[in-house]
Amino acid sequence: MSCTREVGRLLASAAAAKPQGVVAESGTGAGVGTAWLHSGLGAQARLVTVEHDMALAVHASDAFADDPNVTVLAGDWRLLGPHAPFDVFFCDGGGKRDDPDLVVDLLAPGGILILDDFTPSTDWPPHFEGETDELRLFYLTHPALTTTEILTTAYASTVMAVRRD
Ligand SMILES: C[S@@+](CC[C@H](N)C(=O)[O-])C[C@H]1O[C@@H](n2cnc3c(N)ncnc32)[C@H](O)[C@@H]1O
Repeated sequence: MSCTREVGRLLASAAAAKPQGVVAESGTGAGVGTAWLHSGLGAQARLVTVEHDMALAVHASDAFADDPNVTVLAGDWRLLGPHAPFDVFFCDGGGKRDDPDLVVDLLAPGGILILDDFTPSTDWPPHFEGETDELRLFYLTHPALTTTEILTTAYASTVMAVRRD
């Protein structure tokens, strides 16, 4: 369930765009997305990631133990809240579906939100499995966001949004 190389490059670029920023990830998983974010992290930036699977969180915590700018939290994604506002938020495990309003609230002005694992749709509004994809529509039309959808492979797309205010 780790992010693809194409998404990883996007994550690294987003982190690099905010050299003094707070970079966050919900759903650390095996730490692949975290490593991509870390590869673009500026010396003055901080990276915080959260994972509710304790074994995975411990693994990631060990992997990034050498860098004091990286914090790995074990528990629900809402533990990220006190670290907000975020200049980059890779929302990949918790939040994206269960509380999209809060996801937007956690962004700083100019903050970049990245959500992967969508199925490309050439329709408007976007469709998934024959139905309007209301979740994707939420992010694509949110009044506080300027949003685009990027085809990362032939079979997957990523939604990237910037918070305007
Ligand atoms: C798609 S995987 C993450 C992959 C990782 N971000 C990457 O790019 O390599 C989703 C992860 O989110 C975790 N997760 C799911 N719901 C969560 C929640 N509410 N709070 C924290 N972690 C959650 C899962 O345990 C899983 O490890």
